[in-house]
Amino acid sequence: MTPKIGRVFSGIRPTGHSHLGNYLGAIKNYVALQDEYECVYCIVDLHALTTVEDTLDLRQNTYEMALDLLAAGIRPEETILFVQSHVPQVTELHTILSMVTPLGKLTDLPTFKEKARQQPHNINYGLVGYPVLMAADIVLYKSDVVPVGVDQAPHIEFTREVVRSFNYRYNANVLIEPQMKNTETPKVLGIDGKEKMSKSLANQIEIAATPEATRQRVMMMVTDPQRVKRTDPGNPDICNVFSLHKIITPAGDVAMINIECRRAGIGCVDCKKLFAGNLNKALEPFRAKRGELAAKPAHVHAVLEDGAARARAIAEKTMVEVREAVQLP
Ligand code: TRP
Repeated sequence: MTPKIGRVFSGIRPTGHSHLGNYLGAIKNYVALQDEYECVYCIVDLHALTTVEDTLDLRQNTYEMALDLLAAGIRPEETILFVQSHVPQVTELHTILSMVTPLGKLTDLPTFKEKARQQPHNINYGLVGYPVLMAADIVLYKSDVVPVGVDQAPHIEFTREVVRSFNYRYNANVLIEPQMKNTETPKVLGIDGKEKMSKSLANQIEIAATPEATRQRVMMMVTDPQRVKRTDPGNPDICNVFSLHKIITPAGDVAMINIECRRAGIGCVDCKKLFAGNLNKALEPFRAKRGELAAKPAHVHAVLEDGAARARAIAEKTMVEVREAVQLP
């Protein structure tokens, strides 16, 4: 194994039924980062509590997310994979960091305002403190690098500010300012071709579905809206199916579609059939591995227990330093 160049931390919410947007935007990147970094990946069940109405699916969704991550290629012998609430030190650090957090900064965040708009009847205290808990996640593990999408950039900037405030207030050099690592994949649009792929908009393509279910979802995809009839020439540059072909489909076929679509040589139906086939092929190893893991739930739980034990060891070490810096009696 080559030496690692730093520690990566990221948290992923247990949304249940991961989709192509989660996979291309986050999970694939998590897998790749393992080659260069020591990685700590956390399924953030506590963060999930800020937006759910009930917790009936929380355990199942957390388990499913673990299956997705492991099936995608997270290597638990190297990487620490764990469930946020299994390391309660994070809630202690959250409380301590909250004291160096100006309230106005939290209520000004665009992410908070958006959530408040989405759930006006459930603007809970946890929702306001969401970025503080996220900062606690990151700094508890003395993480150097945090891979997240652009929507999370304000939270990373917030984390850096909290670290500076903490170190300044307690005259300590205990916490580390993390760097943000922007994930390279452009944002993945849903089957509507308009909005970002998301479960709440019901425009997703699930990665663990059957090939037939996947094919049906793909056939529902909106293509170039200007191309009404089969004989109309299309414009791949504005077609969401084409943008996904570019990620999934072998280069030769991408070049062919790029030419044939523009001269109506290939129709949208055939183009989507081709995409569905390639997508199913690309997801085949993931689905096979996921099936194997799903047959061994005790093994998956043991992996999460082991990850939590390793995470707790790092977390407790940081907390000893934090409590000392704060001079808790
Ligand atoms: N807020 C992140 C999201 O919504 C999830 C998250 C929680 C996270 N804690 C984190 C991401 C720490 C990176 C680091 O996607």
